[in-house]
Formats: sequence, C-alpha cells, structure tokens
Amino acid sequence: MDLLVTGGAGYIGSIVVERAVARGHAVTVLDNLQEGHRGAVSAQAAFIEGDCGDAALLDMVLAAARCDAVIHLAAETTVDRSVSDPAIYFHNNAVNGLALLDAMRRHGVSRMIFSSTAATYGEPESVPMTEDHVQRPINAYGESKLMFERCLRWYHRAYGLRSVSFRYFNAAGATSSHGEAHRHESHLIPLLLDVAAGRRELVDVYGTDYPTPDGTCVRDFVHVVDIADAHLRALDSIDAMGIDFFNIGNGVGHTVRQVADAVRDVTGHAIPTRHCPRRRGDPAALVASFDRIRAKLDWAPAFPDLTAIVDTAWRWRLAHPDGYADDGA
Ligand SMILES: NC(=O)c1ccc[n+]([C@@H]2O[C@H](COP(=O)([O-])OP(=O)(O)OC[C@H]3O[C@@H](n4cnc5c(N)ncnc54)[C@H](O)[C@@H]3O)[C@@H](O)[C@H]2O)c1
Repeated sequence: MDLLVTGGAGYIGSIVVERAVARGHAVTVLDNLQEGHRGAVSAQAAFIEGDCGDAALLDMVLAAARCDAVIHLAAETTVDRSVSDPAIYFHNNAVNGLALLDAMRRHGVSRMIFSSTAATYGEPESVPMTEDHVQRPINAYGESKLMFERCLRWYHRAYGLRSVSFRYFNAAGATSSHGEAHRHESHLIPLLLDVAAGRRELVDVYGTDYPTPDGTCVRDFVHVVDIADAHLRALDSIDAMGIDFFNIGNGVGHTVRQVADAVRDVTGHAIPTRHCPRRRGDPAALVASFDRIRAKLDWAPAFPDLTAIVDTAWRWRLAHPDGYADDGA
C-alpha cells in the first residue's frame, strides 16, 4: 500500500515506518518535528516536514501521490501537561486531526489507522480493561483522543471512512535502529535507563501504598514492535472491518518496582528511587485485555517478557547514547 504516516519521526511512528517499509509498503512521513527526529525516519521512506493541521500542505501531499491509507500517530502526548494546558491538546489532537480527516475526504482517501490511548478510559472499574469499559477520561489528553475516536464513528457512518483505533497501553522497547528519544521524557523505562546511563540520579516513584504486590502502581508495558505489527495486520483487514477499536497491551501488568528491578538486572546498575506521595489520577492498576484484537486480528504480543522489552531499550540506548544524530537530542 501507499501509506501516509503522520508522526512517523516520533518514537512509535518511526518503528511503524520501519516495519511497514520492511513489509514492502511505500511510506511518506509527515511530521512537524516538534518532538520527533529527522534521523528517526527510515531512509526508505519519503519525508515531509510539516503540520497535519495544514490543509494546503495536505492538499499538496495527497494530490501529488497515491495514498491508500493514513496512519495517524501525530499528537501531543504528555499526560501531565494536558491538565495544565489543555488547549494545545484539543487543538493538535482534535482540530488538526479533523483537518487531516477532511483532507482525506477531499482526496478520496478512505482508510485510517489511529493511535488512541488507554487514557480514554479514565479510572478503571475493572481490570483487565476491555474495549467496552466505560470511557470517562480524567485528563485532556485522553479526552482529546476520545473526541477523535468519536469523530471517526461519525465519519464512518456519514462518509464511509474506514478506521481502526488502537488504544495503546504503555509502549516500551526498541529495535536495533529505532528507539525512544523524547525531548521531554515522562515514560518510566527511559527515565530508569537514564539513571543506569549516569544521566539522572534517581527516579521518583509516586505512591508506595497501593493495594498491589509491592505497593507501587501496576502498568501494562507492550513492546513497540508488537504495536507496530498490529498496525500492519489492521491494514490487511481494514476493508472487511469498516470501523473498530482495539486495546494493544501485554495483558500482564508489572509494578513500578518490578520495572525498576528489571532495569537494574538488565543494565547491571543500581537504580536509586525516591518514594513520593501518590499523584492525583494515578489508578492502582491499568492492564489491558487483548482478547478482542486476538480474536479479530489474530494478534498477541510476540515479546511479552518485561526483561526482554527492557533489554531491547537498553541495547538501543547503548548504541545511541545521544539519541538521534540529527539534532543531538
Ligand atoms: N508512547 C506511548 O506509550 C503511547 C501510549 C498511548 C498512546 N500513544 C499515542 O501514540 C502516538 C505516538 O506516540 P509517541 O510516544 O511515539 O510520541 P512522539 O511524541 O514520539 O511522536 C509523535 C510525533 O508526532 C509529531 N507531531 C506532533 N504533532 C504534530 C502535528 N500537528 N503535525 C505533524 N507532526 C506532529 C511529533 O513531532 C512526533 O514526532 C501518539 O498519538 C500518542 O498519543 C503513545
């Protein structure tokens, strides 16, 4: 297929692109590089630096080349900031997303794979969480993604747009050529690896009195290659599906303490942590059920082992100590 991948210079997007070109898809990446890196885009993909809310640019891109499907990963992604500054989240994740959908309509592109999030669910009422769990987001990040999921439902009903929304849990790990190099890192595993790499003294652990095996929060870490492969499976079946929504998770949760221990074991470095009070809105446990995607797309995590996930991230970090060479970040 000819694919347009927004956010393809970012962490997950770069690996979606790596796997897509390896499968023989022709890929064009559209990324404004606000967070992504030029050097993260596979050499076999075309790259356009620009914003997915730029209607004129989208018209040019979609008029110039065939496009069978859009994989839409571009977004504001930091949960904490979405509470203090929701405007940029609604603008980028909802308004820019709509500009993209409308450009697709103008150019007759009728398939989208969308990066949604477990944050659309809010506080879990039951764990593991299934796709029919109530969606009541507790931050503007989750709300903005849910708004876009809802737009997709209406665009399917009215305009026949086919779409698959993936609600990722916590992406983690790397390939040998692509890994996680956020400029503003908030994810647990890269923060722990920073400590092992001597770039950070310790990691704050928020809450040690949760009703979990060791008192720290339980989260679901899924290998980024498994996430990428789900996208390729969805492309194969999207015409038959019409519209659908799937969790992508490991199905097994790990406590923050277990993750810190895995990083210690993989890297051989002590990982000092500091116990801090619970953060508002941090549930005790967030774990995905992946029954639906297993049944419909025959997907299950191929790399479910936490130590192996951390090991891939650490290997990438050792090979790329300064991240991507394009901007030293
Ligand atoms: N990382 C996770 O654990 C996780 C979990 C759930 C959902 N997600 C979703 O997956 C997607 C990718 O996440 P990531 O961790 O790779 O984030 P990322 O920040 O590394 O990637 C996002 C990319 O989008 C680009 N971008 C942002 N706004 C843009 C715009 N308006 N136009 C063009 N490019 C734009 C950024 O420059 C960046 O390269 C996001 O939609 C995110 O919400 C990620």
